[in-house]
Amino acid sequence: MPPSLRHLVASLLITSAAVVSPFVHAHGDVTPQSVDTKSLPQLGDQWREENPYRGNKEAIRIGTSAYAQNCARCHGLEAISGGIAPDLRQLDRDCMSQKDEVKKQACFKEIDGYFATSVRRGKVRNGAVYMPPFEGILNQEAIWSIKAYLETVRAMPAVAAAKAASAAAPAAAKSSASKKQ
Ligand code: HEC
Repeated sequence: MPPSLRHLVASLLITSAAVVSPFVHAHGDVTPQSVDTKSLPQLGDQWREENPYRGNKEAIRIGTSAYAQNCARCHGLEAISGGIAPDLRQLDRDCMSQKDEVKKQACFKEIDGYFATSVRRGKVRNGAVYMPPFEGILNQEAIWSIKAYLETVRAMPAVAAAKAASAAAPAAAKSSASKKQ
């Protein structure tokens, strides 16, 4: 089958999977969206262990809207969690404070693997679906695009905290930070 036709078949499959997916009914407020990722380097069927799109502008653009359509209703607009689900800006925060560059890259890779598995399989604990699986709804390109987007917002809490600290006296910054807790 020529690649273009194969792509068409693949996107039809994705569309029908989205239509029959049971969680469309379980969480009927927002229909999960399949995401157009044709403008990105295609990744094939083999799942990558690491985000191949880090810093890729087009992936970040696609990931921003894919996040808004599929994840924001639980994880919060612009990845700022309202408390229902984990704040995804924090996902690889521990890696950011890692000073050894080799360890830092290993840390990113580990978090990437955890991220992709979480999104593909969802989160089910004691039989309760906390997060639906996205396998078959979002393709590999879309899932790594969302990660690329999340990487652009991960530094925000630290940046915001630093701004608050420099704008106010240290004592005032401390008390406003503790009020937020
Ligand atoms: C129906 C609500 C819901 C939707 C939609 C949802 N999630 Fe989640 N997600 C959760 C909850 C709740 C958890 C925490 C589950 C747990 O505690 O086991 C979670 C956990 C995660 C985790 C693990 C976080 C951690 O700190 O361990 C990742 C990564 C994640 N979600 C990514 C996503 C992405 C990306 C999307 C969109 C493609 C998404 N989620 C859509 C509710 C949701």
